[in-house]
Amino acid sequence: MGEGTEDSGPVGVGSIDHVALAVPDLDTAISFFRDRFAAEVSEAVTLAEQSIRIAFVRLANAEIELMEPLSRDSPIGRFLARNPAGGLHHICLATDDASSAHSASLAQGLRPLNPPRPGYHGRPLFFLHPKATFGMLVEIEEAEREPDDARYQNWRER
Ligand code: CO
Repeated sequence: MGEGTEDSGPVGVGSIDHVALAVPDLDTAISFFRDRFAAEVSEAVTLAEQSIRIAFVRLANAEIELMEPLSRDSPIGRFLARNPAGGLHHICLATDDASSAHSASLAQGLRPLNPPRPGYHGRPLFFLHPKATFGMLVEIEEAEREPDDARYQNWRER
């Protein structure tokens, strides 16, 4: 773990936004959470550029992101090859400001894997290398903002 420098504070995070589960079959997983837990589950969405189909199980305090790979030769496809029945893939922590959280992560030696980039919701997010976080892949995502929020607008225009 890196030492924070004097002018770098800790990474500002709030609640858990979601926990992501890789599953071999998304439709089966959607039915599973609807039927066995009476949970509200979103419709499935295809994210072609990430080679996944996803849906969100909406719980009171957080969501479970269900991810089915569309190809074996993709990060989730390779993860599922190692965990054929499915497996916990990452957790997502919400932050107020992804750009500041990214700078702080660098300064704290948390090895961000990418600069903040827009995710499915259009909010900026990045991942931390699991070797920097006790083996847990951590996604850090900017919390939802009102569309007229100035920082959000600025970010979208970049
Ligand atoms: Co996620």
